[in-house]
Amino acid sequence: MQKYPHSQELNEAWFAVAFDYKEPGGFFQYLAERKEPQKRFFGAMKCVGMAPGVDYGHLANGYDWRKLGKATVVDRGGSAGHDFKETVEASEKTLPAQFKGRVSFQAHDFFNPQPLRTEVYMMRHICHCWPDKYLIKILQQTVLAMDHGSRMIVVETVVPSRRDGLYRSMDLFMFSMLDAQDRSAEEWSKIVVAADPRLRVASIEKPTGSHDAIIDIVLGQLN
Ligand SMILES: C[S@@+](CC[C@H](N)C(=O)[O-])C[C@H]1O[C@@H](n2cnc3c(N)ncnc32)[C@H](O)[C@@H]1O
Repeated sequence: MQKYPHSQELNEAWFAVAFDYKEPGGFFQYLAERKEPQKRFFGAMKCVGMAPGVDYGHLANGYDWRKLGKATVVDRGGSAGHDFKETVEASEKTLPAQFKGRVSFQAHDFFNPQPLRTEVYMMRHICHCWPDKYLIKILQQTVLAMDHGSRMIVVETVVPSRRDGLYRSMDLFMFSMLDAQDRSAEEWSKIVVAADPRLRVASIEKPTGSHDAIIDIVLGQLN
């Protein structure tokens, strides 16, 4: 913090300084280059997904999916990690039979333009891994594929108050590893507009028992 106050660079986060890791991609690049830590990280993400507060049921039941009608959902940065070619191949092999034909996988780096044009882009536990500068880029790459009325559904902690110990500890963890942060409702409203003035936060709902909120972001038209 003393060395790089207010930095938004991944290789200036506490993690990068502690590990003397200077590559610009920071923590995720470090993992991408090291199979064993990467495997442990994917395992940790799987465990995180087992905690009652982040159960996928909150997402399945806590959002009115029916209102979308027939829609295709692109899960950016989905599943057990980075949408690497190997992750995609492994995921295809383990897909339960009842989802065959309904779910497909594609390797993609979300700092590149989103290649699939569809109605809904979901990002679960993605955005808090990035400082504002990088999150704005991810959102902009998504907008390139969006039409008026299509949306992003972001599943993430929305910080009620920075005095709340539990939320604050996660916020500090993201800061230490990645120079990133959890965001408040107000910060969400501001950052979507910074990415594209046609974006607006339509709603933020926190299902009962869920640690995460579901942030519904819609692409509108300029007035
Ligand atoms: C905290 S995990 C969340 C994974 C999953 N969405 C979930 O809810 O469990 C963040 C994921 O973003 C992936 N990621 C990081 N950089 C990425 C990039 N440039 N493109 C695509 N995925 C990336 C990481 O591999 C990591 O698995």
